Amino acid sequence: MNGSLRAVVSGAGMIGAVHAAAIRASGGELAGVVASTPERSARVAEEWNVPGRYPDFAAVLADDSVSVVHVCTPNALHIGQAEAALRAGKHVICEKPLATSAADAQRLTSLAQETGLVLAVPFVYRYHPLVRELRDRRLRGEFGAWQLLHGSYLQDWMLSEEAMSWRVDPADGGPSRAFADIGSHWCDLVEWVAGVRFTELTARLGTTVPTRPAGTGASFATRGGGPRVRVRTEDVATVLLRTDGGALATLTVSQVSAGRKNRLWFELDGARGSAVFDQENPETVWLGAPDGARVLFRDPAQGSAEQRRLSRLPAGHAQGYAECFTSFVSDAYAAIRGDAPEGLPTGADGVRSARIVEAVLTSSASLTWTDVDPTEIALEATA
Ligand SMILES: NC(=O)c1ccc[n+]([C@@H]2O[C@H](COP(=O)([O-])OP(=O)(O)OC[C@H]3O[C@@H](n4cnc5c(N)ncnc54)[C@H](O)[C@@H]3O)[C@@H](O)[C@H]2O)c1
Repeated sequence: MNGSLRAVVSGAGMIGAVHAAAIRASGGELAGVVASTPERSARVAEEWNVPGRYPDFAAVLADDSVSVVHVCTPNALHIGQAEAALRAGKHVICEKPLATSAADAQRLTSLAQETGLVLAVPFVYRYHPLVRELRDRRLRGEFGAWQLLHGSYLQDWMLSEEAMSWRVDPADGGPSRAFADIGSHWCDLVEWVAGVRFTELTARLGTTVPTRPAGTGASFATRGGGPRVRVRTEDVATVLLRTDGGALATLTVSQVSAGRKNRLWFELDGARGSAVFDQENPETVWLGAPDGARVLFRDPAQGSAEQRRLSRLPAGHAQGYAECFTSFVSDAYAAIRGDAPEGLPTGADGVRSARIVEAVLTSSASLTWTDVDPTEIALEATA
């Protein structure tokens, strides 16, 4: 496939705008945007300076010049939009969670395999250059056998009892909120960097804000006083996991930790050395050894080939989340053109993630250790 790919973004909220910028930054053609209503679609198209006018998703499907659809809508809409786009012969970049059940995620992934179309899922933290550096060092045996894996993913945007989002309602967000939304990123990242599979887990979920303002649509906060609804999804999650190699791992997830904005943090402790990554400070990683510790800086002139490839700016010129997205979209588009970029998260990774979410829900309901479905996943899981 030659020339720039024509892409449409469905869902014009926070992450839709990030996708739109990444499409342009990676050389794609942003052909249009579909929002929640025809009026809003037209308004956003104007704001984003997008040429095409698509009043609804059906109009995107009917346009043969569109080759890739970015699904950035609320979780429950992913399966329907992604499936329709694949059936219309379009490649799909579908936000996580790929679907709100593992069965739906598997169905979508099988469909992509049958049609030969690319289905990519933005587990974008894999695209921090120093994450790639840690993975490369693990592959070269620097850390030795894992002793313990631990970390957290903490935010505070749901701490106020006046905060509300479509994510709170299982009908829009799915049966898990905090874990599926952000715990899923941590599990994807740690499995991929450490080269492990979580085989079983025991989880406890907590809802710390029992009621929230009634309402749907995008995220919002009220000044109080209006009608309220009972919250049926978790604000916090604690999970104890075991890897296929027998190591233990712990994960703490929260959307109600004051002062924590997007703190995805992990530590991997091996027999010869340890490694720490903090998403809010992605320009450095900490490497521990028995006789001391040191801090490594991102540098396109140093380290692994993947650290160099994904460094879009010189050392000391901070890059972060936006560049991860650009690199991810660039790799997804390279896959559409027939390449096999290293570490591109695909439908198989979305299925894997959905299975971990289901194990967390089963465990927290039954108060037992629960196996993560180990069945081989149809598409290649990125090694
Ligand atoms: N990969 C990541 O790092 C990352 C980060 C944030 C969000 N996400 C995912 O992206 C998705 C969207 O999250 P967000 O933070 O942008 O939410 P958001 O609330 O900011 O935006 C969602 C938008 O979808 C719109 N919408 C609702 N129904 C629609 C429809 N039928 N057609 C088109 N648009 C519709 C809403 O009006 C809203 O503007 C979620 O699945 C979320 O998990 C992923």
